Amino acid sequence: MNLKGRSFLKLLDYTPEEINYLIDLSADLKEKKKRGIFHDELRGKNIALIFEKTSTRTRCSFEVAASDLGMGSTYLDPSGSQIGKKESIADTARVLGRMYDGIEYRGFEQDIVEELSKYAGVPVWNGLTNEFHPTQMIADMLTIREHFGKLSGLKFVYMGDARYNMGNSLMITCAKLGLHFVACTNKKYFPDSALVDKAKEIAADTGATITLSESVEESCKDADVIYTDVWVSMGEPDAVWKERISDLLPYQVNAKALSYAKPDVKFMHCLPAFHDLKTTIGKEIYEKYGLTEMEVTDEVFESEHSIVFDEAENRMHSIKAIMYATLK
Ligand code: CP
Ligand code: NVA
Repeated sequence: MNLKGRSFLKLLDYTPEEINYLIDLSADLKEKKKRGIFHDELRGKNIALIFEKTSTRTRCSFEVAASDLGMGSTYLDPSGSQIGKKESIADTARVLGRMYDGIEYRGFEQDIVEELSKYAGVPVWNGLTNEFHPTQMIADMLTIREHFGKLSGLKFVYMGDARYNMGNSLMITCAKLGLHFVACTNKKYFPDSALVDKAKEIAADTGATITLSESVEESCKDADVIYTDVWVSMGEPDAVWKERISDLLPYQVNAKALSYAKPDVKFMHCLPAFHDLKTTIGKEIYEKYGLTEMEVTDEVFESEHSIVFDEAENRMHSIKAIMYATLK
């Protein structure tokens, strides 16, 4: 398998074999790290990390992974570069491509990261756009494989806002890897129909199925994994909270939803999650709308079903694998 020089922008660009290879490589590099085996095989290389939106996991994963691989990294924060404001994406790409061996981009439209990749001349990794969050996918599939020993054939239910980066990416990833994907939400939040058609086309070859449903009971019945994400994503206006809450509260991941699933169902979330009142936004929402928890209840988040911190850890191992595969 040779992925050298490739960008990693969305899983639609990768074959199931390539995706499985990245999951295997993530597991190998995780094992090396746990056993204290140095793997600084990319010594002398440097990467740029462009963040037009904030981050905890993705930024830290890129920085720790780069350091473990022997690479230097430069972090450009949401206000710390000229990108888009004084310099076009194409010009930025051509400048950074002269100095760095790889570029991570987190920001808004998918077109921006695609353009960056077109002009950079070095691999570009999508650290989240409005449409896709591909590095999260490798971590999520690694985590599921660690817990179930397989991916193909599992029933994977996504609840909540299924028409944004996480819902889109998970639907495509499940299609590629043969999982039975269900988007369980108010029909206003079903993924874009063109993308659903594409997912169904892929699924026809892999044995996956793609289902869209408004019924929590039917969707969660016999589920192996139930996944959710925040109801309002970064970059969306605060004004949408009211409508989101009323539309998506019936699709909160709570004990009732889990009760329909298999007894050992796993709960997953890309994080950060609103499951209590220990955040500023969580408190503001409580004051305005009286909700003490949002997309997932604290009970489920803290339960033995929850594997969210395994998932968060795996962000680092999988981002390391993506960089290693595309640079080595
Ligand atoms: N899951 C995820 O991408 O987290 P951050 O926003 O903290 O990077
Ligand atoms: N949908 C979320 C994912 C965060 C990792 C967002 O875009 O804010």
